[in-house]
Amino acid sequence: MNYENRINELMSRMTLEEKIGQLQQCGPSLVGSFDVDVEELMNMVFDGRMTKEELMALLASSKRDFHEDDLRAGRIGSYMGVTHAETALRLQKIAVEESRLGIPLLFACDVIHGFKTVTPIPLAESCAWDKVLWEKTARMAAEEATSAGIQMTFAPMVDVSKDARWGRIAESAGEDALVNGAYGTAKVRGFQTDDPSRPDALSACVKHFAAYGAAEAGRDYNRVDMSRLRLYEEYLPSYEACVKAGALAVMPAFNDINGEPCSSNRWLLTEVLRNQWGFHGMTVSDSNAVDELVNHGNVFDRADAAKQALEAGMDMDMASGCFIENLKVLAESGKLDVDALNRAVADVLRVKFTLGLFDDPYQTTTEREAAALMSGEKRTVAREAAQKSIVLLKNNGVLPLKAGTNLGIMGSLADNRDEMLGTWAVDANSQTCVSIVDACKAQGILYTYFKTAADACASDCDVILAAVGEKKTESGEAASKVSIDLSAEDMEILKTLHDAGKTVVTVLFNGRPLAISWLKENVPAIVEAWHPGTEAGSAILDILFGRVNPSAKLTTTFPASAGQCPMYYDHINTGRPGGKSKFTSKYIDAPIEPVYPFGYGLSYTTFTYSGLAAKQQEKGVAVSVTVANTGDRAGDEIVQCYFRDPVARRVRPVQKLADFARISLEAGEQKEVSFFLPYETFGYYDQSMSYVVDDGEIIIMVGGSSVDTIHTNLVLART
Ligand code: BGC
Repeated sequence: MNYENRINELMSRMTLEEKIGQLQQCGPSLVGSFDVDVEELMNMVFDGRMTKEELMALLASSKRDFHEDDLRAGRIGSYMGVTHAETALRLQKIAVEESRLGIPLLFACDVIHGFKTVTPIPLAESCAWDKVLWEKTARMAAEEATSAGIQMTFAPMVDVSKDARWGRIAESAGEDALVNGAYGTAKVRGFQTDDPSRPDALSACVKHFAAYGAAEAGRDYNRVDMSRLRLYEEYLPSYEACVKAGALAVMPAFNDINGEPCSSNRWLLTEVLRNQWGFHGMTVSDSNAVDELVNHGNVFDRADAAKQALEAGMDMDMASGCFIENLKVLAESGKLDVDALNRAVADVLRVKFTLGLFDDPYQTTTEREAAALMSGEKRTVAREAAQKSIVLLKNNGVLPLKAGTNLGIMGSLADNRDEMLGTWAVDANSQTCVSIVDACKAQGILYTYFKTAADACASDCDVILAAVGEKKTESGEAASKVSIDLSAEDMEILKTLHDAGKTVVTVLFNGRPLAISWLKENVPAIVEAWHPGTEAGSAILDILFGRVNPSAKLTTTFPASAGQCPMYYDHINTGRPGGKSKFTSKYIDAPIEPVYPFGYGLSYTTFTYSGLAAKQQEKGVAVSVTVANTGDRAGDEIVQCYFRDPVARRVRPVQKLADFARISLEAGEQKEVSFFLPYETFGYYDQSMSYVVDDGEIIIMVGGSSVDTIHTNLVLART
């Protein structure tokens, strides 16, 4: 729908102040009237000292009126973090009925992996390699969030993340550009639907643009310095895919790229995003990021920050207040590009029109909210998502557990609902979560929960389930680590059980790859559960007892040590690839191979691949392969198609994912799987930044993991 006439007509009636008001998103500063430091309040929610509900209660009990006078004066265009229909409706009513022009507010919030019903953290859910599931869980989150009055989520995050030290790897779809793009576009479709004006459609906001995942040394907010070639090939495609899928908003990242902070990066926000990709939605800064330009040191002060950000292509200022404070004076004194201001206002209004807010500003009712939250099939969807996200890393035959197994359970994470939620699920009520112990009780499993390893060792339990790993605050924002090892306490538990000769099934909870060489060598079974969300315990038992056959595969490489980070499958060969000689590219104190590679994951059945064929066609290459289930039970397989361009005019990765498919096979069944790879798949940027596709040899690899593939060669000759 084209709203330009309505936008122009409305803008012709707006004062300068009202225009600037549209660019103001009130953030956590709305709690500024408390005697508590705002950041401290946020920290309290993040690290669990205060629940989101308690914070909301504190807000509700305050005399503060959410800037009601500012609303009446049209000085606020959007709120973030309002998560109840009642509050949203009250504020909206003031904006619509009591402001001069009645422009509706936009309510935004971080709905990252579920709102009240929580699905696995994104890194986990990406391991499902399931576009249908990704879309379905986004739809579910949108139904819940919109019922509570939210119209935009700050998701999906599609920052390609190759460094296990970076805590925000938990929020990504892992290390691969194609997987992040596929995950992100499915999320955009699920959130927005093909009609964003529906009252249950949620605007996506793709973040963090760009390359935030490449922060140097894995330290959050750190600099990003990389060639344009690499940026275009490995880091930009996932954002571009989401923009092309129609995402209505984009959030520039905190970091700088090659010396220019993304928040004031004209090349990124105008040249790439708008001119090259044709983006017509709105950009919204990351939290306080406009003000933080002052710390970056590329602006003089907050006024200069506002000018530089806006003129570079930033539309809305989240939380910093720099726009509202400074743009008027800048504009009146002729120091601001007024076209840039009008662009920003038009972008924000366009999103509001597209969301249908001018036709129905309220979009929800408290009745709809009550009926939507955690209702109907939502727990079933959350359980399916968790089942499909759990990666079986090792199994010497102990799994699946037999019904009637006398199960011992160890580790505080086995009996902690809150820790199941993972990072960012701040609006959920952890008491609605199912822990492993809860699930055992509900399912009538014979179990004993041990507080100490000595008690577990002395018991006659057949199998000890050790729940170890990270708490939810150990990954996510501002949770970078220099060690990705298990904690000393966890290792003590595991070693004690191992030394006593116990059969240990390790269930890992974590938001990043962990260094688990010892586990790989010493325990009979490893189940990577990540942070699985509301239905954690139920889904884990489904996998452990074989009611569900595990199917997930890693979207992130597991290094042997943090010293190898960043470690990823699509690396280049170097001039001295591995080998026996000392003078090859490796470490003298760690292997060059990962502990568990990208694309890896076990099943309770086995799959074989045969008959790989690749044929050149008019527009690309058609690949086909036969996949057979050679085991004795049904299972899903993630079929991965990679290629290598062995000779090009510049270095190319040893392997690059070209496509994937998730298939279901009955025991003994086989299927032919086909992929069509357009010629552009094989291209690359040359040194003059032209995208070229060479003729010549291509190696096609298909298999169930990046290191377990069958190959065929083909010579591309397009002329
Ligand atoms: C994060 C964003 C998030 C925003 C709003 C920032 O600190 O980087 O990912 O959307 O806060 O909560």
